[in-house]
Amino acid sequence: MNIREDFAKLFGLNPDLVSSAPGRVNLIGEHIDYSDGFVLPFAIQARTYCALRIRSDERIRVATNQHKRDIFESSISELKTQTGPVWSRYILGVLWALGIKVGVEILVDSEVPSGAGLSSSAALECSVAIALNHHLELGRSLTELARITQRAENEYVGVPCGIMDQSISLMGRAGHALLLDCRDLSTRQIKVDFESHDLKLLIVDTRAHHALADGGYAERRAQCESVAKALGVRAMRDLSLGELEAARTRLPDVNYKRARHAVTEISRVLEAVKVLEADDFSNFGDLLTKSHQSLRDDYNVSCPELDLAVDTALNLGALGARMVGGGFGGSAIALIRSDDAAKVALGIEQAFEKRGFSSPRFFDSLPGDGARVESY
Ligand code: GLA
Repeated sequence: MNIREDFAKLFGLNPDLVSSAPGRVNLIGEHIDYSDGFVLPFAIQARTYCALRIRSDERIRVATNQHKRDIFESSISELKTQTGPVWSRYILGVLWALGIKVGVEILVDSEVPSGAGLSSSAALECSVAIALNHHLELGRSLTELARITQRAENEYVGVPCGIMDQSISLMGRAGHALLLDCRDLSTRQIKVDFESHDLKLLIVDTRAHHALADGGYAERRAQCESVAKALGVRAMRDLSLGELEAARTRLPDVNYKRARHAVTEISRVLEAVKVLEADDFSNFGDLLTKSHQSLRDDYNVSCPELDLAVDTALNLGALGARMVGGGFGGSAIALIRSDDAAKVALGIEQAFEKRGFSSPRFFDSLPGDGARVESY
């Protein structure tokens, strides 16, 4: 990938700067960022790159190496009403949410597979945000940029995501997972070193995308909000399991189950940090698997492909495994002994073939750094 050269060929001039931002996997804390919970994601090595040049007029010209490299043209005054191709909306949304008043040329390129549940959208938004923040000296903090890029996705693109993906893409640190309090965005970097314990985190992209994804996500959010309202708390974060159990008969059964996932998942994250810091990988693995069961049975956001990846990994000796991200497809993770990597991958591949599912893809990634300026 040579994004500088590509940019110069496309726009006829060199970019002012190149920035990048990573995708993520979430170790634990799924579907609780929008319930003000705690999450524990890490930034993966795969990144999205953004080459940017400021113009002297109001024109906006954007392109991506991921699709036919046509330039999508707009202008600052048209930003609000723009309905460009889907990929362009993630870029324009960031310009809009940052309140940018000058024209720009932007080319993006990405190593983060899209549709794999590894946050290619957040990587794209954050690569653009960090470039603009730096070059235009906007002085926004990483926390502010997380809220701004989330707003771009919620209000401009129209996806009701939480704050986790943008936060980790901006704040990730090599060798660490990020314990993020999704209420106030306070953070603690937690050392993650599976390698020196002969362990590996295998990422399995199931290549499944189920149609439920969009509506299903919004529906889960609404169900949690409705429980919070019914029980007079601000969010699931403020509910204990005891309080929820006591109120069970006042709630529709499905909403009770959604809330039970949220409440138990929040405690699993805090427990996971404790055991991780004590190098207790066996209990850490158990927590991953319990998280999956809760997402599958109480939150109903798994799917046959994710369940098969998780079950097969566990049968082949994984210490723990779970789906990651929004669900209904996308990726799963499995904590395995490094020596078992080939065996587990092969086992999952064969199990998928037997069930007639598309062939899965495997990645492994050490925790990498968050968004940064690459070069001027
Ligand atoms: C998607 C959203 C995140 C989060 C996860 C589920 O990745 O973008 O905000 O809600 O799903 O944990």
